[in-house]
Formats: sequence, structure tokens, C-alpha cells
Amino acid sequence: PTLVAPKANDSSFIAKMKASGKNIVVFYGSQTGTAEEFALRLVKEAARYGMKALYPADPEECEMEELSKLSEINNSLVIFCMATYGEGDPTDNASAFYEWLKTEEPDLTGVNYAVFGLGNKTYEHFNSMGKFFDKRLEELGATRVVEAGVGDDDGNMEEDFLTWKDTLWPAVLDFFGLEMNLQEISMRQYRLEIPDVPPEKLFTGEIARLRAYQTQRPPFDAKNPFLAQVTAWRELHKGGDRSCMHIELDISNSKLRYDAGDHVAVYPVNDPALVNRFGELLSVDLDTPISLVNIDDQSTKKHPFPCPCTYRTALSHYLDITSNPRTHVLKELAEHTTNFEEKQKLLMMASSSVEGKELYQQWVLQDNRSLLHILEDLPSCKPSLDLVCELLTRLQSRYYSISSSSKLHPETVHITAVLLKYTTPTGRINKGVATTWLASKKPQLDQPPHQVPIFIRKSQFRLPARHQTPIIMIGPGTGVAPFRGFIQERLKVKREGKPVGDTVLFFGCRKKTEDFLYEEEFEESIQEGLLTLHTAFSRDQPDKKVYVTHLLKEQGEYIWRIISEESGHIYVCGDARNMARDVHDIIVDICSRYGKLSSSEAHAFVKKLETQRRYSADVWS
Ligand code: FAD
Ligand code: 2AM
Repeated sequence: PTLVAPKANDSSFIAKMKASGKNIVVFYGSQTGTAEEFALRLVKEAARYGMKALYPADPEECEMEELSKLSEINNSLVIFCMATYGEGDPTDNASAFYEWLKTEEPDLTGVNYAVFGLGNKTYEHFNSMGKFFDKRLEELGATRVVEAGVGDDDGNMEEDFLTWKDTLWPAVLDFFGLEMNLQEISMRQYRLEIPDVPPEKLFTGEIARLRAYQTQRPPFDAKNPFLAQVTAWRELHKGGDRSCMHIELDISNSKLRYDAGDHVAVYPVNDPALVNRFGELLSVDLDTPISLVNIDDQSTKKHPFPCPCTYRTALSHYLDITSNPRTHVLKELAEHTTNFEEKQKLLMMASSSVEGKELYQQWVLQDNRSLLHILEDLPSCKPSLDLVCELLTRLQSRYYSISSSSKLHPETVHITAVLLKYTTPTGRINKGVATTWLASKKPQLDQPPHQVPIFIRKSQFRLPARHQTPIIMIGPGTGVAPFRGFIQERLKVKREGKPVGDTVLFFGCRKKTEDFLYEEEFEESIQEGLLTLHTAFSRDQPDKKVYVTHLLKEQGEYIWRIISEESGHIYVCGDARNMARDVHDIIVDICSRYGKLSSSEAHAFVKKLETQRRYSADVWS
């Protein structure tokens, strides 16, 4: 395929590197911002080692065919920070570049490269993008300067990155025959400006266009979310102390379309109590308007988030204030800590020593401290709030598997979300950002409806084209969400008098009387002769757990017949960490046992089902 020419007329990164005397370029394939953040850290660090790196570059905005021209620049290096997304896929911003590199044969002789891949071992295709880029660049003649790094988000991604970085810079210096000569330079990328603008010129939470929420204009997407009204909100749990919300969002007048199996993304707002805490701890008036402006005027990213806005807006809408900060943040905080012990503690955690890494693992990750918790626990740590705003990463939208069918509900999307709340080892109560915010969106009498900024992300998780094709759905907990949509769709077809194939759901929850989601609706589908339901109530019997996996085993012969003889489809949704893996293993066992296949034949059989999209997973961790 040919790469579509980028819109910007300054997309030649080679021209920019030459004009500004830069010899390193760092590209990122990023979906949730981590790869981009790592790329930025590498760019900043290059300067400390006396090298000159171009700002982090988005492959979608650059002429990637120019890669081979890097050989024209003396001592040049390209670094790729590439995340793997979903089922071994490239991130949206890297997909065109990935397709191009996969199919074209550019001669990359004389190009020097390094790759850091970001992935999650919970998923089957762990780090497939990192591996691809590392291998493919070599095949095309480029020279690997250092072993590729492998980051595992299920383990400790930060530590993986630090460990790799420790090998990267010495290898690069060695490769170019340069001396290690660390420079003390400011790591700040943005400077604070206090804008003198009327209030209507301040961003108030918009993602890209000022006033986008006052004057909504389609098409709606991630950069231009639709403000959907909450038309229904109800509790799905009938007992117990946990909460699962059913929420309906109005998308009429939005021109948004969806299919059962798609995801809806929600842009949440941080808890005002946490936002206020920043103002208290750092003694700042949060309603001060600010603008953070990139010091590098060549960078395409002028601001880290929409500016000008107030501190309050930045902390409420744009910044992730609840995650565990990464080590470079601790290093910056140390600069603004007066107490000796507190400062040493931060410096230790930011160092790459074994004790430092252990302390970071314990005190930040295991104890689950956010930046706010750190400011509370190290009272002499007083960074400026604008530095804090630079250090925090962007608040991300949260995805939900749509739990309705557009055939039945063309004007609403339904969400099924569990409220997240847990106590940390330091005794603090942490609340999930998006679910806590959604929990406050219950419509109130005599009040205007609540509004939620959303967009829809298409997925590959689809009902078979023919209604007669049998389907087996496995969705414990909120994993049942997309299956409610699938069932609604098939029920509609059945009510129209058309033939519908076997529609089988394996659902699991803790207790029948507490968290059996949509029990009455599923009962109706059973009564109408559509649904076969197998339920596993894990905590209803004192002596042992019953999971959907146990029920699958019991139905092994049937499942094998459906997939081997009746071209049936299998769907799994929900927890990626344990459930989806266990289900996968059991399906392989079933194929082996009832299909009389060897273990490797059974694995190959399931792999083939996956490529035919007859075994699909929609899982998250
Ligand atoms: P956050 O503020 O993002 O907090 C979550 C983080 O808290 C976790 O990443 C983890 O680091 C930490 N954490 C959580 N529990 C603990 C604990 N016990 N101890 C220590 N740390 C902990 N969710 C649904 O409810 N329904 C769905 O249908 C659904 N579909 C999804 C589909 C996709 C494709 C994806 C990617 C995710 C889906 N999710 C779904 C998950 C959803 O996107 C959110 O992650 C979830 O609602 C939590 O968001 P939050 O902002 O409330 O929590
Ligand atoms: P538990 O919490 O009692 O262990 C929805 O979360 C349901 O899935 C719960 O009943 C939960 O049981 C169950 N569950 C936990 N781990 C599972 C696994 N590996 N496979 C299938 N179900 C699981």
C-alpha cells in the first residue's frame, strides 16, 4: 500500500532534522499515551547525553517513506516505542506505517535503530508489534544498535523501560564512538504563561475545539466527542455491597452509529475533592488561568493539553491524577523537596539501583500511591503546580463494551459498568475515575439531564452474518455486556419469525441473589425459546467455587459438535487476566478430547478458528 500523504505540509522529519541539526528521531505507536510518554522521556534524555533528538514523532503525521534518508544524516539513529494493542494489532496511529513496512521493501541500509515494545503478557500476542519492528527493520538492511526492549504492563512496565534505557545510551555512545559526558540541563519541556484572555477563550474540558460542547458539530470521534444525555441509570445488583450500573446514553441527533460488539468510550472527570487537594497542598488558587507552552518551537505539540485553561480544568479534565507516577516524575519532585530524608527517598526510587527499584516497587506500586498521596506523605515536597501539570500524563477515555443492540435501540447505547472502589495498603480508599463519575450521573427529577462526552470505537467482535449460525457466548461478570446486545438482536429476528441458530450463554457471578446481571431479561429470552443459559454462581456453595469454565467442561461434547460440525462461533468477554486464558485452555482441551486431536493439533485448530473469526475475544484487564 502507498502511505497517504500527511495533511501537514511540514511532515518531512528529515528536513526538520537537517534544519535543526538533530541526529535522533523517536517515533511512537501509542494508544493510551504510555509509548508517547516514553518517547518524550527519550527525547529529553538524549540532550543529557549530548545528543540532539527531534521531538517525539507520530508516524501518522510524518512521511515515513523518508526513513531510508536517515543514512544521509551523520551519526543518526531512529528509536521506535511501539505498543501492541488488542489482539496483536498496531495502535491506530501506527497502523498505516505498519502495513506499509510489512508489504513494501524500502532499502534501509545505513539506518541505525533501536526498538522498545510495550505490551501486556496477559494477552496472547504479547508485544507482537515490538517484535515485528525489531525484526523487519533488520530484514530491510537497517542496523540494530541495541537489543530491543520489552515492556510488560502486567508486570512493571516502568522497570522494564528503565532497564532497557540503561543499555540504550551506553550502546548508542559506543556505536558512534562518543564519550559519556552527562550534561546538567533542565528537563522541562513547557514554560508557564499566565494568559490575559477573556473567560470565553478558556478551555473548560473540550478535547480539541474551544466551545465544542456548546456548539456540537458532527462528525463525532475521539477528538470531537458527542455530549450524550443520560436517559436511564439503574443499579443492577440486588444485594451485597458492590455496585454495577446500567446506563443508557442518548445518541439521537448525533449521527453516531454502532453495532452490537462495538465499544463506547467515555471521557470522565476527576473527583473534585482530589482536585481541590492539589490547591490545598500546594497553596494555589485553582481558578488561575494558565497556559503551558512548548519550549521547543519546532514541536508540533504546542501544549500538553488544551490551553489556556484554569488549573482546575486541567486537573479535572485533562490530567491523570490518580495513577502511580513513573520514576522520572519522582526525580523531578526530588528537586523541590527540602527535607533531606524525603529528598533521598525520591532520588533513591528514581535511581536505577536494585534498592531503588525495589523501593519504587514497594512504596509507589504496591502501596498504590498517586502523586497526591506522595505530596501528602512527603510534606516538604512542594513542586510548583505548573510543573505538576507538566509531569502528569493525560487523562484517558475509558472503554465500555456496548450492552445494547442498535437493531433494537438505534437511539441509545447502553453501558454495564462495575463501580471500582478499593482500599490501598496505606489505608486510603481509591475510587475508579470513570465509574465513580458515572455513578453520579443518575437523572434527577426537575434537573436537566446529565451529559457524558463519548465516542464509538468499532470492533471486530461481531455476530455471525447468518442468524442460523449457532453461537456460544462466555461472559462472566460485566463480560456479559456485549452478549446482552447479541441476544437482543437475535430475539428481534426470532420475533420476526425468522429461523435463529442455537444461542448459548455461559454466565457467572458470585451469588444468584446479588449480582446476577439482567436476570429477568435473560429469563424472557429463555421463555421465548431463543436462549440457552448456563449459570455458575461461584460463591453460592460454601465448599467450592463454580466457574463458567467448569460448566464449559460439562458441555464439552456439545461445544465440540457446534464448532466442528455446525460452523458455530465462540465468543469470550470479560477478565483477560484469568478467565479468558482459562476458557481458551478449556476450549483447546475440548477440541483435543472430543475431536481426538493431539495437543498441538488442538492448538492449531483453535488458532484457525481465531483467524476465521469464529473464536473471538473482547477482554480487558
Ligand atoms: P480507574 O481509575 O481507571 O482505575 C483502574 C485501575 O485501578 C486499574 O487499572 C488498576 O491499576 C487499579 N485497580 C483496580 N482495582 C484494584 C485493586 N483492587 N487494587 C489495586 N489496584 C486496583 N468495564 C466494565 O465495567 N464494563 C465493560 O463493559 C467494560 N468493557 C471494556 C471494554 C474494553 C475494550 C476495555 C479496554 C475495558 C472495558 N472495561 C469495562 C473496563 C473499563 O474501561 C474501565 O477500566 C473500568 O470501568 C475502570 O475504570 P475507572 O476509571 O473507574 O477506574
Ligand atoms: P469469584 O470472584 O468468586 O472468584 C464474575 O467476576 C465471576 O467470575 C465471579 O463469580 C468470579 O468468581 C468468577 N471468576 C473468577 N475467576 C474466574 C476464572 N478464572 N474463570 C471463570 N470465572 C472466574
